[in-house]
Parts: sequence; C-alpha cells; structure tokens
Amino acid sequence: MNSPVSLKQQLLTSNSDLPPNLVALIDDVASACRNISALVTRGAMAGVLGDAGSENVQGEGQKKLDVISNDVFIDKLQWSGNLAGMASEEMDDMHPIPAAFTRGDYLITFDPLDGSSNIDVNGSVGTIFSIMQAPAGDVNNSSFLQPGNRQVCAGYCLYSSASMLVLTTGNGVDGFTLDVSSGEFLLTHADIRVPAETSEFSINAAYTRHWFAPVKRYIDEALLGSEGPRGRNFNMRWAGSMVGDVHRILMRGGVFMYPADKKLAADNKAGKLRLLYEASPMGMLMEQAGGLASTGNERILDIQPDSLHQRVPVIMGSATEVELVDSYHSEAS
Ligand code: AHG
Ligand code: MN
Ligand code: MN
Repeated sequence: MNSPVSLKQQLLTSNSDLPPNLVALIDDVASACRNISALVTRGAMAGVLGDAGSENVQGEGQKKLDVISNDVFIDKLQWSGNLAGMASEEMDDMHPIPAAFTRGDYLITFDPLDGSSNIDVNGSVGTIFSIMQAPAGDVNNSSFLQPGNRQVCAGYCLYSSASMLVLTTGNGVDGFTLDVSSGEFLLTHADIRVPAETSEFSINAAYTRHWFAPVKRYIDEALLGSEGPRGRNFNMRWAGSMVGDVHRILMRGGVFMYPADKKLAADNKAGKLRLLYEASPMGMLMEQAGGLASTGNERILDIQPDSLHQRVPVIMGSATEVELVDSYHSEAS
C-alpha cells in the first residue's frame, strides 16, 4: 500500500514552481485550521459556543468562535516572516505585521469562521482564505484591493463530520482530510473536478419575494422539474454555511447562489457575501475545478475591489448552470 501523501509533500511535488515561502505560509494556515478544528470539535467543552457580545465592522453580531478563530489566525501567522499584512471579515482594518517580526512577501485575507450561525447547533462551519503578493512599500487597506485573478492561493477548511482542507495554487484543486490521530492533513481528493451538468441548486428560498427576475426565472424553471423547460427534476440543499454548500457542489455539482436582491439593494448592499474573504477565494477554487463563478453580470475574479469589506452577488458552480443564470441576466438587461 502506498503511504499517504501529506499536504506539504503534495505542494512540493505536484507544483515544483511554488516558492518555498508560499509553501511555508500554506503550511501555517493548515496549522491554524487544525487548531480551529480542535476547538470546533470540543464545542461546549472548550467553552467556545455562544455570542461574543460584540459586533464586527459590518454590523453583524459576533460569535465567540468568530473572534477566537480570528485570533488563532493572527497568533499562528503574524510572526512567520511570510506575511506583510492580514485582513479579515472580523477586523475593521487590516492587521499590520508588528515591527518585531520580519515582513514577508504575501498578504492574506480570511473569513475565520464561515457559517457562524451554525456553531451553536453543531452544523457545518469553515474557514476561507486567499493569498496574494504584497505590493512593494508600506502596506495599508488599499494594498488588499486586488482582483481575484491575482490570487496565488485560495482555499477553505470545512469543519464537519471530518475536517477537510481544499486548496488551489492555480494548478487544479486538491482536498486533504485531517487525520486526527496524526494531526496531519492527508491527500484524499486529488484533482477535484466539479461535474459540468447537475440537477441541484443551493439558495436561501426564504428570500424568494426579494429576488430579481433572472434568479426567479432560473429557480422557477428548476422547480417545474420534468414538467418544465429543464425537462428534469432538481434537488435543493442549503446548509447556511458557504463552505459547506460550496464543498458539496465541488463534490457532486450544482449551483450555489447568494444573489443580489431587492432587500439587499434597499439596504445599499450589492450582495451579502464579501468579495475578498468569500467570493474571490471560492471563485478561484470553482474555476480551478472546471466550474464558473459570476455575479450574474460579470466574472467574480475580474472585479476590481473598491473597499476591504465590499459585498458582491455570488453565483457559482457547474459551468452549464452558471452560464444559464448569466444568460438570463443578459436577456433581462
Ligand atoms: P459568516 O458566518 O462568515 O458571516 O457567513 C455566513 C454567510 C454564508 O456562509 C452563508 O452562505 C450565508 O451567510 C447565509 O446567510 P443567510 O442566513 O442569509 O441564509
Ligand atoms: Mn462567511
Ligand atoms: Mn465569518
């Protein structure tokens, strides 16, 4: 029997062009995710459930685990010598690397705990991250405003029945399962490809009355099943955690949508999900697995960010389904 391939082994052998400091940084990210996985698994016993009693810059109530996971990332990564700055959903502004530590070549953006409404019900949660080159000179919030097509690595860790790290360095997508006995992430899903055609969609249907016409048309047609224009029956799944929902779609195909809607628009929000911490990294993973990621009107990876916490509509998954939703948007405009 072949011995299992570790994360580091796969990074060093499958893509020999990766700079060693990027490999070291990804290894540190994996280590942070391992710590968060241990906290999530111990749950109530670790005293990490419940509200933190604070709000983030976006006005969302923070869970204790949102704040703790953010701290784990900072504690694990800031001294590594590989980063020039860090930005997260849970921090108002970027976190500069303290002067005592060496400045590195990269920037990281992250959603430390995605799907935090699931924490207290023992549902799936995750961590999402994106790595890009740091521009020369001083680092500030605007250093992070780079389109997703400039990411050098994107990934997530899903904390579910097993913890899995799924990542791309621009050379396909690999999945690694955390072996709790050795503490190592081992390659279990090499070269993940999202099936091109599927019959599953993932959207919060409680917002049906707020949807714009193109999204309503796509879902209405899917709901008509074999009696409608699609000529086949569809399934619906919604975990309430983007990591959980997108992981399922990477595994067996489908389309994930958190689209623009009238309610979000009335609140002056282009979408709910954040470009730099959620849409961009998940968009890169989806494209690297052969799928697509769009707002309905443009490719997510081509959006030039205008602010750190910018929100965008998200439609991603199997190529044929995303193309169809896109075509309904262009027909409507
Ligand atoms: P976060 O917990 O990081 O704020 O993200 C939650 C996101 C995403 O994971 C999920 O798809 C979506 O919010 C769920 O939103 P609704 O509660 O509006 O369905
Ligand atoms: Mn999130
Ligand atoms: Mn979050």
